[in-house]
Amino acid sequence: MSLLSPAEGWYDKKVSKDEKMWMLIALILCLSMFVWMILWHVYGKQNPSSTTYRTSTAEFSTLTEAYIKKNQIGSDNGIPIVRPKPNSDVFLMAEMWRWSPGLILEKDQKYKFHISSRDIVHGFSLQPVNMNFQVYPGYDYVLEFTPTELGEYKLLCNEFCGIGHHTMIGKIVVIEKDEDLKKYGYEGFKKEPDPVPAAGVVANLTEEQKASSGEQLYTLKGCAACHKVDGTNVLAPSWKGLFGKEEKVTENGKEMSVKVDEAYMIESIKNPKQKVTVGYEKTPMPVFPLKDDEIDHIIAYIKSLSK
Ligand code: CUA
Repeated sequence: MSLLSPAEGWYDKKVSKDEKMWMLIALILCLSMFVWMILWHVYGKQNPSSTTYRTSTAEFSTLTEAYIKKNQIGSDNGIPIVRPKPNSDVFLMAEMWRWSPGLILEKDQKYKFHISSRDIVHGFSLQPVNMNFQVYPGYDYVLEFTPTELGEYKLLCNEFCGIGHHTMIGKIVVIEKDEDLKKYGYEGFKKEPDPVPAAGVVANLTEEQKASSGEQLYTLKGCAACHKVDGTNVLAPSWKGLFGKEEKVTENGKEMSVKVDEAYMIESIKNPKQKVTVGYEKTPMPVFPLKDDEIDHIIAYIKSLSK
């Protein structure tokens, strides 16, 4: 019951002219917004319509990793960089907390993007063109994309995805000719990606070869999202100078000191919850499904950073 009850019989009174006018305006607004909801998909550039397919995280990860291995020509800040051929399929993975790979595209050429997430929901936001949509794990968003302007585009995440959300920034550069690569510091990149060795061919690798494979895995598997190699400790301990260092860790609630050796690193990669480095409790390391030889190569890389 309201404080001021309307006068008796109000319901039967005629609606006044002003009121009718407002109702009509509101109705027109509603209808036009409804129509624009549909038109926006045709004319709007901000929310592109994509064709979505069901996939699995494992399947999409495999495809993206194979794609990067085959096409990588360099790396930028721990993110592999690829230069896809025009009219080819491009795989882009969102994960905590990066977009991988970084892309070099050619102006006015068409590319077919496949975008998915490895873990949780992220937001694809291409700036400054302000193209936005959500990226869910388990779905392959396929959209055709033709860059029409030269320059560097930032790929931001606009869906809060945890403590490293603000660091989740990818990069797409659009060039016209090879000389343009200089502007982005990419001039030293390879002209053609390295041929991928056939699966199963693992010769006896030297420590250096293992370390270089480990460096590739570092960007490919996503270690680079948290572990830096320049000595800065942001979300996780830097790998520079890590090997052989004494670290304070917590095991079963007890604080203790450990020496970072091979055994400790293998344990940390396979079972990251066992010993947690003091100071990084808020950014726990996820379990990465790595094969034993991959772990071996990553450790070789970490060792090479402490020489
Ligand atoms: Cu990914 Cu926020």
